[in-house]
Amino acid sequence: MSRDFDLVLFGATGFTGKLVADYIARTAKQPRWAIAGRNKEKLEALGLNVPVLVADALDPAAIAGIARRTKVICTTAGPYAKYGSEIVAACAEHGTHYCDLTGEPQWMRRMIDTHDERAKKSGARIVHTCGFDSIPSDLGTWAVQQEFQKAFGVPASSVTALYGESSGAVSGGTVASGIQTAVEAGADRSVSKNLANPYGLDPDPYDPARPPSPDERGIGWDSRLKMFTIPFLMAGINTRVVRRAHALSGFPWGDNFVYREVMSAPGSPAGLVRAVAFTAGMGAIAFALKRPRLREMLQKRAPKPGEGPTPEQRANGHWKVRFVAEGGNHRLVYVVADAHGDPGYQSTAKMLGESALCLAQDPLTSPGGVTTPSVSMGQFLLDRLRRAGLTFEVAG
Ligand SMILES: NC(=O)c1ccc[n+]([C@@H]2O[C@H](COP(=O)([O-])OP(=O)(O)OC[C@H]3O[C@@H](n4cnc5c(N)ncnc54)[C@H](OP(=O)(O)O)[C@@H]3O)[C@@H](O)[C@H]2O)c1
Repeated sequence: MSRDFDLVLFGATGFTGKLVADYIARTAKQPRWAIAGRNKEKLEALGLNVPVLVADALDPAAIAGIARRTKVICTTAGPYAKYGSEIVAACAEHGTHYCDLTGEPQWMRRMIDTHDERAKKSGARIVHTCGFDSIPSDLGTWAVQQEFQKAFGVPASSVTALYGESSGAVSGGTVASGIQTAVEAGADRSVSKNLANPYGLDPDPYDPARPPSPDERGIGWDSRLKMFTIPFLMAGINTRVVRRAHALSGFPWGDNFVYREVMSAPGSPAGLVRAVAFTAGMGAIAFALKRPRLREMLQKRAPKPGEGPTPEQRANGHWKVRFVAEGGNHRLVYVVADAHGDPGYQSTAKMLGESALCLAQDPLTSPGGVTTPSVSMGQFLLDRLRRAGLTFEVAG
């Protein structure tokens, strides 16, 4: 079926949307693309010299009109639980590929339950979490497993991702999305139960064959890297995505494959102080998010929709994740993923922009359905991200 556009960027007027629009506009091999959102004047004011499509995210007919005209919709309009559902529904229905930046697992669960079957039939690749949540975890695990198999001929039985040195900030939409998840969890017991389930995004979240994979609590020690480990706030999203990827691929790393994700701090007295401070800070945020009054106070002090880190903050940010793949007989492979630039905005604009371009332009053979970045795009996306300056390399 011929379509007017390869790619429509929806939500291009938002804080992250503008960064993604700028990234796509600057990439060498541009697609036939358009920008979309609810406010024509704001969209035109971006001065991008591409077609402008106007639709409210909550208007199913207008959204379907866009989905029918393009090969891919890439959306940055969040919280996704508020503004994403009609877009996923239209893409699944019309065989339009889709990518987003959601970090809202309760909404992803609803999209899987409601649209996975339809997307499989229409061939639409519905790919959530194409930003810092959860591309480093998902693609990094996939990459370290490729390297382990190259080295030893078999997959690793466990992978640990250690989120280390990093510097970044948050935007208003990210704060609103975290609060949206907390509000839904507080209001509905089935949501909080699913969020607490390590296999909450698996095709079968209660498959008794899956090994226990409790979320990390408290400070630990990684004897291989000689670093302290700390519970990581985003692990509640990323670990579920990695496990879903494994399940969708048919468990190629074995029935007992275990994925863990933590933050790391240097194995020094200063590192221990940092570990204690971080653990207390994360605990305080998790505690506050569960209480309406404290949540309100947090929100008042946080960036508002449309606000986020300054250009200097974005340029001066950085991130690094160490992946340790382990098999029997002390077989180990390390992969390090890192990049300059704020993880949630500078790197995320590249990750989402390249995901959208990958879905639009690369000869992918993966099936339709609600999938993950590694399952839908694997090596094609890894190659693109490396060309865009992100590192995923074997370390000594
Ligand atoms: N995974 C990651 O690493 C990562 C990183 C960054 C951001 N994010 C996520 O990205 C999302 C956006 O964050 P942000 O800070 O960029 O948000 P933002 O600045 O508040 O932007 C929200 C966008 O949604 C649009 N929008 C709101 N309601 C709409 C409606 N009814 N119809 C059409 N468009 C509508 C807004 O349009 P107007 O301009 O017209 O108001 C704006 O373009 C959040 O969910 C955040 O969590 C994730």
